[in-house]
Amino acid sequence: MDTLASYDELPYDSLPLPETQPDVLAALARLHGFNAPDPRRARILELGCAQGGNLIPLAWRWPESDCVGVELSRVQAAAGADFVQRLGLANARIVHADLAALPADLGSFDYILAHGVFSWVPPAVQGALLDVCRRHLSPQGLAYVSFNVAAGWQRLQPLRAALLERTAAGLPAPERHRQALAVLADLEAEWRDPLLLKEIAYLRTAAPSYLFHEYLADTNAPMPFAEFTAALDAHGLRYVGEAGPRRARVALEDAWGLIPESMAGRWQDAEIALDDAFATRFRRAMIARDDAPCAQPPHPDAMADLAFHADLACEEDIDLDADVAQRFVNPAGNHFPVVSPALKAALMLLSMRYPVALDYASLVDATRALLADHGAADLDEPAFREALFDLVMLHGVTPTVWPGRFADEPGERPRAHDLARAQARTSGWVVSGARHVAVDLDLAGRLLLGVLDGSRSLDELAAWMQAQLAENGLDLPLEQVEELTRRQLWLYVRQGLLV
Ligand SMILES: C[S@@+](CC[C@H](N)C(=O)[O-])C[C@H]1O[C@@H](n2cnc3c(N)ncnc32)[C@H](O)[C@@H]1O
Repeated sequence: MDTLASYDELPYDSLPLPETQPDVLAALARLHGFNAPDPRRARILELGCAQGGNLIPLAWRWPESDCVGVELSRVQAAAGADFVQRLGLANARIVHADLAALPADLGSFDYILAHGVFSWVPPAVQGALLDVCRRHLSPQGLAYVSFNVAAGWQRLQPLRAALLERTAAGLPAPERHRQALAVLADLEAEWRDPLLLKEIAYLRTAAPSYLFHEYLADTNAPMPFAEFTAALDAHGLRYVGEAGPRRARVALEDAWGLIPESMAGRWQDAEIALDDAFATRFRRAMIARDDAPCAQPPHPDAMADLAFHADLACEEDIDLDADVAQRFVNPAGNHFPVVSPALKAALMLLSMRYPVALDYASLVDATRALLADHGAADLDEPAFREALFDLVMLHGVTPTVWPGRFADEPGERPRAHDLARAQARTSGWVVSGARHVAVDLDLAGRLLLGVLDGSRSLDELAAWMQAQLAENGLDLPLEQVEELTRRQLWLYVRQGLLV
């Protein structure tokens, strides 16, 4: 096949995907007793990388890494290759190719990423994807393969069937998308199932590319977890653990002293039970070669070797005196109830330091000091570790092996790094934060970021902003623009965009 017309016509929103960051994967793998290579000097391969919105920021972050993206849609691959060239990024390459027909001389990779690909390609390409993982993973390498899970998708199938049936496959993508929106409006009036109605409400506001490529795609083949692990087995691969958020974790009774291999069967049964209990729709599986050391269910003791970051706010004044549940919320709007005062104090500290990550020992020390300052009870370390571990599993706190160093103030003449400026100036690209999140910027935010080359003082930037806003029909007094500019610069600091 030469290209993928559906993705040429309606390219996928190519965003940074936080769960695919190799430093996070390495940290999560360690919780499973698996040691993955140092991401800073890793070779990283992304399959189905779209225009490289995920891969390019990783290459930028770690100049000593070597990143290769493979994408079958000619339009997306060309957009990615063009952006890499304009950035002058020597350690990244976006190749227009079919992952099922890769040249054998690509070499081996420490991380292989395939997000949103496996369930959306025919069985032969699924097999080829796993073959690529087996053939090209380094001995201790980690692959990340996300897929739709049958347990949760069973109940959504009527929605996909109705959308496929009631829209015309031959229409150009934007028209078919409009047709699908009309069908969703009809279904909302016709149907009663609360789960389907919730999904319809979501789809009506979701990115067109999501609705199109998830519900109207020729292939979307959810798979039971057991079938997925059997496919891994058949390709000389093995499950390491989950890179996505988990509402419950597997802890095997009487596992003490057992070698990881002997836990595999019980672990798999427990994962299947979790999928059924939570109607899991999507998994982000970490995978290794079957000749690498065997992983085991995640364990809190491994946290001592890791660092952590979090971007959370509490919805009320934080109570460090009592075990009362308080809700913390992340920028995506996900809520995390936290009871333990020690964990609340730790979250305050992490959020203040974001995007920097604190290693476990420093976090414990700083939390103890904060509790003491406040006159609160001291931290009970084993209980703290357990509570933090639960929040890590839920993705309220992110573990990493890369603490990161970032500018902690805008400085006299603020300068954004070259990637952020290029992303801000180029339509079709989102700005990626230091922790691989899509930074939500309005037009003014993009304009300002795009000119932060270190040549202007704050006063000069404010005057420039005032002129830009006036050109766009918004006349504001200089004082107000100065305040807006200052706030915007601190937002860039928080996202690690300044140098
Ligand atoms: C749903 S999109 C996901 C894009 C990106 N990984 C993400 O998650 O944002 C699937 C991508 O896989 C690409 N793709 C599908 N089949 C492929 C193949 N055989 N070889 C390479 N890329 C392929 C598509 O063109 C598309 O860009």
